[in-house]
Amino acid sequence: MRIVLIGFMGSGKSVFGKRLAKHLNLKFIDLDNHIEQKYKMTIPSIFSTFDETVFRNLETKELNEILKQDNLILACGGGTPCFNKNMKSINSQSISVYLQLNEKALFNRLIKSKTKRPLIQDLKHDELLNKISELLNERERFYNQSKLTVNGINLNVEEVTDFIKINTD
Ligand code: S3P
Repeated sequence: MRIVLIGFMGSGKSVFGKRLAKHLNLKFIDLDNHIEQKYKMTIPSIFSTFDETVFRNLETKELNEILKQDNLILACGGGTPCFNKNMKSINSQSISVYLQLNEKALFNRLIKSKTKRPLIQDLKHDELLNKISELLNERERFYNQSKLTVNGINLNVEEVTDFIKINTD
């Protein structure tokens, strides 16, 4: 089984992915952490030393490598499905699950955790809200290609496991 979690920054992919992996006894990989460890650079420093395109190409390369492994839960970055035909690769090789949250819920989470996220780290509150709105508008067409969508509020490991099993048998 290979499950790929997709969703906007702050939607809970990493936290929930870890819990889901433990429950299902699968390996857990967080794509951003994997990149940071492999290249010995933080995501913000990859963006500032190089640029977003360099990051996106690394992200695609590592995604495709990880998708060769089985028995795992992978938490993508918020932008992963939206570049380099990644959503196609994800869907052809895994059960993709979109953790969906609305703009307001995302805003409430992201105001507390901007600093490690280069796309939003310098934004003031009103700019952050606009940015979330703008990016979500662009990205939802990719997120909506996921095989399954779950409500990202109060995610429950048992419920999501049942939902995945019922919908993939
Ligand atoms: C990004 C989301 C981040 C990280 C990078 C770019 C994005 O991951 O990959 O900062 O484009 O939405 P999280 O979704 O884990 O914050």
